[in-house]
Amino acid sequence: MRVAVLSPEAVPYSKTGGLGDVAGALTKALRRTGRADVALFVPLYERVERSLLDKVVFEGLEVEWAGRRYIVKVWYSEASGAPTFLLDLPDYFARPGIYGYGDDHERFAFFSHATLVSLKLLGGPPDILHCNDWPCAFAVVELSRWRAHDPFFAQTRTLLSIHNLAYQGIFDASLLPKLGFQDQQTIDLFLKDGAASALKAGLMAADWLSTVSRRYALEIQTPEQGYGLDWLLRARRDRLVGITNGIDYEVWDPETDPFIAAHYSAADLTGKSACKVDLLRRFGLPLEPSRPIIAIISRLVAQKGYDLIREAADALLETGAYFIALGAGAREYEEFLQSLRDRAPQQVGVYIGYASEALAHQIEAGADIFLMPSLYEPCGLNQMYSMRYGTVPVVRATGGLDDTVEEFDRARRTGTGFKFRDYRAEAMLESLYEALYCYAERDLWRAIQINGMRQNNSWEAAAQRYLDLYRAIVG
Ligand code: ADP
Ligand code: GLC
Repeated sequence: MRVAVLSPEAVPYSKTGGLGDVAGALTKALRRTGRADVALFVPLYERVERSLLDKVVFEGLEVEWAGRRYIVKVWYSEASGAPTFLLDLPDYFARPGIYGYGDDHERFAFFSHATLVSLKLLGGPPDILHCNDWPCAFAVVELSRWRAHDPFFAQTRTLLSIHNLAYQGIFDASLLPKLGFQDQQTIDLFLKDGAASALKAGLMAADWLSTVSRRYALEIQTPEQGYGLDWLLRARRDRLVGITNGIDYEVWDPETDPFIAAHYSAADLTGKSACKVDLLRRFGLPLEPSRPIIAIISRLVAQKGYDLIREAADALLETGAYFIALGAGAREYEEFLQSLRDRAPQQVGVYIGYASEALAHQIEAGADIFLMPSLYEPCGLNQMYSMRYGTVPVVRATGGLDDTVEEFDRARRTGTGFKFRDYRAEAMLESLYEALYCYAERDLWRAIQINGMRQNNSWEAAAQRYLDLYRAIVG
């Protein structure tokens, strides 16, 4: 089974959020099964650490695209654990950021096209072209056109994975011909409310669709969470599957993590206290290790539930717990976090910005409670990292958070965290109070920590499900 995976980001080359982790870890896990000949394709951004690159496979790949000619350099690396091709076109990718430019549609349409061109030169055709999110949806559309007249791709089937339906790659539809999409039938695939949506076109054109948890696969079929595409997802529900992400157990392992102050395991949690002291020190907070630490690491966007945290700020401080936040994004939430720290500098630690991976690991290891009050959450990785690190998640029961966290039952001592359903500050606080109550009862807390640490959320099982899906698609 030959599988080409396309992603706008993948660790260790590039990452802005969970997709980077997923693209890197999934391809590595697929390769390990020994049952897929997998290759990953990503753009070569300015920020990619050049020492990760092994060699150049194409010095000057000529790519004709929409009436223009480009010369692309293609690099090869196995630093992610799977064969990876990185496409180097300075005009589009040598910029400080990954997304957020006015010509993103053009950048990723080009990346998609150039990937198909390079695939033709890299040996046999893939059985599966596995595209991720709107930036790679262009490849799905192109391939569906391409295979009608090019025998090379005649047998290739496409899978489009949705990591976040809210991001659709919307742009001015009059630009479509410039991207090589000229005929009316193809233009119609893109059209949504008078503009072009790359994701919509991909969802229309792909042979199969997937998303990153079972629950989210159902939620996106409802008008509340469908972002104007629920009708399409309902119409295609027999081709839509939810596969819950795994996490990379080699990168996220408190027994071996090179970034944390001390190692620990479910059998011996002693090292976690040293990690807690280390975390308090890093944020310049008083060293009172018996006080619980509530932490959050996320993009600062409404999706992550910052409106609830803002509303509950007074009550949060009144609990007496430390609150540590790492994040970057919307100015209003950055300002809120900074003002919270200014109000209670002895209790609140804030790092605004996209930190090194190290700090995210140190927070996971040092915190007691990890808060994820998301408005919606396709899968979410931090709740799984938390459980692995004996840090108890308090989450809103939505999407992948609902699928991966089991409510703790005090009487039976089962469950891995605390969940609330209503998107209301009071509901979040109720769950937090319950968590803080259990924190004060040492054996209860130990039971929740151990239940979480013993969960198996490794990529092995998820990779197997992708393999089964690929097989079903190929028939
Ligand atoms: P999403 O993909 O919606 O952002 P996930 O929970 O799937 O959410 O993944 C987020 C990933 O990004 C995690 O690995 C998290 O540690 C990381 N992350 C988010 N914000 C930051 C930040 N400011 N600094 C470092 N890592 C971050
Ligand atoms: C998206 C989602 C997040 C998910 C990640 C990886 O960014 O917001 O919930 O975990 O993709 O699939």
